[in-house]
Order: sequence, then structure tokens, then C-alpha cells
Amino acid sequence: MAAEQREYGSFGAGDDGEVRERLVNAGKPAGEYGKELLQRMNGGTHQVLSEWAFSFVVLGPDMHALDLGCGGGANLARLLARCSEGKVHGLDYSPVSVALSTETNAGAIAEGRCEVVQGDVADLPFEDGSMDFVTAVETVYFWPDLEAALMEAHRVLAPGGRFLICNEDDGTDEITLRQSKLVDNMRVHTAGALVDVLGKAGFEDIHVHRNLDKRWMCLIARK
Ligand SMILES: C[S@@+](CC[C@H](N)C(=O)[O-])C[C@H]1O[C@@H](n2cnc3c(N)ncnc32)[C@H](O)[C@@H]1O
Repeated sequence: MAAEQREYGSFGAGDDGEVRERLVNAGKPAGEYGKELLQRMNGGTHQVLSEWAFSFVVLGPDMHALDLGCGGGANLARLLARCSEGKVHGLDYSPVSVALSTETNAGAIAEGRCEVVQGDVADLPFEDGSMDFVTAVETVYFWPDLEAALMEAHRVLAPGGRFLICNEDDGTDEITLRQSKLVDNMRVHTAGALVDVLGKAGFEDIHVHRNLDKRWMCLIARK
């Protein structure tokens, strides 16, 4: 199906100043506005997008999963529901994201089934081969050295473990590309570019799922 015609890009309506402020905060949420944005991301489009992406994988109940750029923590809750006897880890470099992910998953954290840490995707504080599943939802746009970060995701995965990337924009929409240029160092990747960089980082068996109408994409690769 052809992509739908839109009046504004995937990163929402507004003048350049409003879109820039939204994208700066999406890339590293800060203050009250950052918290508000994360609360919205825990529902709305991100919820439907994440559920669409997670529908492509079956997880074992005892798996260890890691969500990179965990934001407000809704994906941690989704992983906890699937890995009911395992452990779920969240990592984000924004203190506001770490605080809201912690609040969202307070029950599972108290039970020792979840932990949320502040850190950068470029230097993951996890042992080699310690994860069965790693996710990156709506976050790789902001990673300055994507290949190095994907190598980190590859390092912490156990052999056969899977890595999922999900983006609400597939880099083919002119308006969205223009929006992304309002922010330094933001990149909206195409599926082809992500397949290439996943391969360079050592991943194999790379599957690309698309919703061409909405321009969503989800890539799942194996270590
Ligand atoms: C647009 S939000 C998405 C949040 C969540 N994954 C979701 O789908 O709702 C992007 C998140 O990635 C985080 N992030 C971006 N770059 C990061 C990096 N280099 N290291 C750790 N977290 C990062 C941001 O702080 C933010 O919380």
C-alpha cells in the first residue's frame, strides 16, 4: 500500500520552534516538558507501534531482556508481561526517563524482576552474553555512533539472542526528514541503512517488517 499523504511529518505538527523543542526532548527528555512527553509516549502512537513490533517475536518466560532508551518505561512493562519468570533491564541516559521508568515499573523493581539504570548505549554496563533479547524503540535516531552502539547490543546478547529496532518513520518522507534536520545529530534511517549497519555490527538473519501506509518499520536480527 502506498504511504498516506500527510500535512505534517512523523514528528508531529507545529512550527519549527515547537517541533525542535519536541525533538530535543524526545532525544534526551529534561524537566517538566520532558516528563510530559514521556508520559504521552507511554500511550498513543508509541503504544500501538510497540505492540505492532513486539507481535513479531515470541519470548520465553525466563528470558533476560534489555530495553535501550527505555524512556517512560512502557516497553519494560511489556517485556515484563512476556518474561514473567526472567529479568528485564532498562537503560537510558536521561535522569527524567530513568525516574519515570522506575515509577512505571515500581512493583516489578520491588520484586527484583526489573532494574532501570542510567547509562549510554555506547557503553553498556552489562556482561558479555548476558541478554536474550534487546530492544531499541524510537531511539536509534539519536545515537551519534550507531555502529558502535549496535556492537554493544551485540556484545551483551547471548549467541542466538535477538535485537529489535522499531522506528515510526522509515526515512522516506520529505517532511519528516526536514523536521529531523531541525535538531543537531538526529538521523532518520532507511530500512536499508539499518540493515547495513546491523550487518557491520555482526548481526545475522536480519528481518525487516514494514507498515508502508504508516511508514513504520521493525527490524529483528540475530547474534
Ligand atoms: C523518543 S524516546 C523513546 C522512549 C521509549 N523507547 C518509547 O518508545 O517510548 C528516546 C529515548 O532514548 C533515550 N536515548 C537517546 N539516546 C540515548 C543514548 N545515547 N543512551 C541512552 N539513552 C538514549 C532518550 O533519553 C529517550 O528517553
